[in-house]
Amino acid sequence: MEKSDKIQNTLDIRKINIMKSPKKGGSSEADSVMYLKELGVELIDNLQPIQFTPNINEHIHRWAPYVQGFSASFVQSVIDRYKEEYQDPIIFDPFAGCGTVLVQVKLNGYESCGVELNPLLQFIADTKLDSWDVSPNHLIKVYNNMPRNKRSPAPTFLKTERHFNKGVLENLEIIKGGIESLETLNEKQMKVKNLLKLAFSSILIEVSNLKRSPCLGYAKNKKVEDTAPFVLMTQKVHQIADDLRVIQAQYRDFIKTKAEVFLANSKTYSYNGKFNLVITSPPYMNGLDYVINYKIEMAWLGFVNSYEELKKLKDDMVVCDNVSKKLIRDFYNSKSTYTNDWIEEIKYKISENIKKRGGYRRLDMPYIVHKYFDDMYKVMKNVISSLSSGGRFILVVGDSLIADVYVPTDLLIAKIGLDLGLKIEKIEKARERRSGQVRSYRLRESVITLVKE
Ligand SMILES: C[S@@+](CC[C@H](N)C(=O)[O-])C[C@H]1O[C@@H](n2cnc3c(N)ncnc32)[C@H](O)[C@@H]1O
Repeated sequence: MEKSDKIQNTLDIRKINIMKSPKKGGSSEADSVMYLKELGVELIDNLQPIQFTPNINEHIHRWAPYVQGFSASFVQSVIDRYKEEYQDPIIFDPFAGCGTVLVQVKLNGYESCGVELNPLLQFIADTKLDSWDVSPNHLIKVYNNMPRNKRSPAPTFLKTERHFNKGVLENLEIIKGGIESLETLNEKQMKVKNLLKLAFSSILIEVSNLKRSPCLGYAKNKKVEDTAPFVLMTQKVHQIADDLRVIQAQYRDFIKTKAEVFLANSKTYSYNGKFNLVITSPPYMNGLDYVINYKIEMAWLGFVNSYEELKKLKDDMVVCDNVSKKLIRDFYNSKSTYTNDWIEEIKYKISENIKKRGGYRRLDMPYIVHKYFDDMYKVMKNVISSLSSGGRFILVVGDSLIADVYVPTDLLIAKIGLDLGLKIEKIEKARERRSGQVRSYRLRESVITLVKE
């Protein structure tokens, strides 16, 4: 069979499987009943805005668009809820992403700390937290005076010529060359350069022939003017300067409030100190590849220089369904993994359904699912050891439907919390969403609140 026939055949089988799915029209609500009963909790309906979208209008948060972040207003509501109970809380985020939690905490004048494994996101979060004292006028002046005669080459290991039109590419190389030529002899110069690098990273997808929705892919019929890099870069630098003015006028007292984000793996990072509150959103089971989706920005800013480096980074993250087969084989053969009866049953059902279907996009899916919960167990265990007694661990996560098997990710995370000695205070349904596989199946996103008594 020709390769194209094979692909068509796989697509047809996939369509038939979706059409015949016993989960059509179903919902996570119905499929959760037995799990909730066993946990002895009721799901509370509390629909609220948890997605990143409204952040595009919020100071600082809007500097870098990040589809996978959560909303600043959600973080604020958690801070408000507990500010009486914890006087001057120290707040932690083990999956810091672009720093939504840490930025919002700093805007309240509280201390915070976070961990992020993707170096681009760690850089973005760190720059958003560390540059509050940069003079807005100085930033604009440095940008306006940046040399425009020093081109710095685009990354060579990516398909850069397909990603960008020729004129756009030339202008990006000029901006990159200008930023790289800036001296960093002192902290002030370093902070300005970092802000310009952040601005540059935040325009790359917009001026490319790509789109992120949420995965990175080619955008059909997208027209980008050659001058777009300069137009958007100028707008971004002015937006950052405007926000710095607001910060320096309204949040002056908090400019020096401690907020750090470490480039590290949350499974193994050893924390120095105790936290009162953990507010976080882990990667979703079977969800997005946080490395490949940011490869353009990572490569242009020099955080990675090859696909091998991207792959290595991906394999260190909490697992997604795009990891290397070897990683899952090694996991399968390893002895010290966390499991429980729910995970084993889910694994069994997924492998049975894959057999019935005669194939699936990843035959090792049961073990990818298992590894996800093992990764989460390791992170949670690590984090809990630094949670003060009476402290709360709040997680925002979505559930999944895999090969027609419902995976109650939120409830499983709560169960892991119980196994690790925490109490389940509440589980709130914050948002309804559709399954990517069977569109008529309704999934949810939840806010899980665990307490260390
Ligand atoms: C859902 S996002 C968090 C977004 C964040 N709440 C925000 O608003 O920006 C999950 C993050 O976890 C990071 N991550 C995945 N595995 C990790 C690990 N083992 N250690 C640290 N960070 C990890 C990913 O790179 C991603 O940025």
